[in-house]
Amino acid sequence: MLMDDFKHAQKTYNQQALCYAEQANANKALRHIRQLVYRLLTPVTNKKILSIGCGEGSECVLFAENGAKVVGIDSSSELITLATNKYSELGIDFLVMDYEETAFEEATFDGIISIMSIMYKADLRKVLLELKRILKPHGTLVIVVPHPVRKMIKYAHFDYFASGLHEETWENVTRYNYYRTIEEYYQLIKESGLSIESLLEPKPELDQPYQVINNISEQLYPHALIFVLQKVEY
Ligand SMILES: C[S@@+](CC[C@H](N)C(=O)[O-])C[C@H]1O[C@@H](n2cnc3c(N)ncnc32)[C@H](O)[C@@H]1O
Repeated sequence: MLMDDFKHAQKTYNQQALCYAEQANANKALRHIRQLVYRLLTPVTNKKILSIGCGEGSECVLFAENGAKVVGIDSSSELITLATNKYSELGIDFLVMDYEETAFEEATFDGIISIMSIMYKADLRKVLLELKRILKPHGTLVIVVPHPVRKMIKYAHFDYFASGLHEETWENVTRYNYYRTIEEYYQLIKESGLSIESLLEPKPELDQPYQVINNISEQLYPHALIFVLQKVEY
């Protein structure tokens, strides 16, 4: 690891906050994932929902509009400011906080969501235990990660089994993330004691014309892998 994971995410997402916010909202695939995640947690009225790595906050909106009390946390102060300016009137609290070590009390949330944010930590075991700690008994944790096949499609000769730290450049900024195979996610979740309620590989909803990367059209493979987990013990 070159730098503390949290500080690295903070620095890179602060640098790209405006650009990221704009592109994330223009992305049909991401909007579809947000709706799917919302449906997985309904009904949400009067529930306490935490979004970790909430970015510029759009993923919190459906929950707040439908009666949930929502908190969004992110490493980037720039994204948290954008989120607060856009959505605080909906009663959502946005805070700069590391999801590996939160300031919340035990058993605070009915539901926690993580959309494309959990890949920025080396120690996923520790993150899962922290999220389990702050979930209420029978609470649900929905984790969305990029589907591992995407790396194979994006990078010719990518080794599916080469898990660990990876470097990716987006809009001239280089970021690090931790790539994991499906088997590794499964093992880590099992060790955390959270129970796996379902595993989803949704068919992507994409803007046309479809992009073709390395001769493979983007609508022909899953873009996201979704784990629906539950805290079963008391
Ligand atoms: C790919 S973006 C996804 C943002 C949002 N969930 C979305 O789908 O638009 C990843 C987000 O995770 C945040 N993040 C990365 N590491 C974090 C950490 N340790 N604690 C809190 N947020 C983190 C980044 O700042 C960034 O906003």
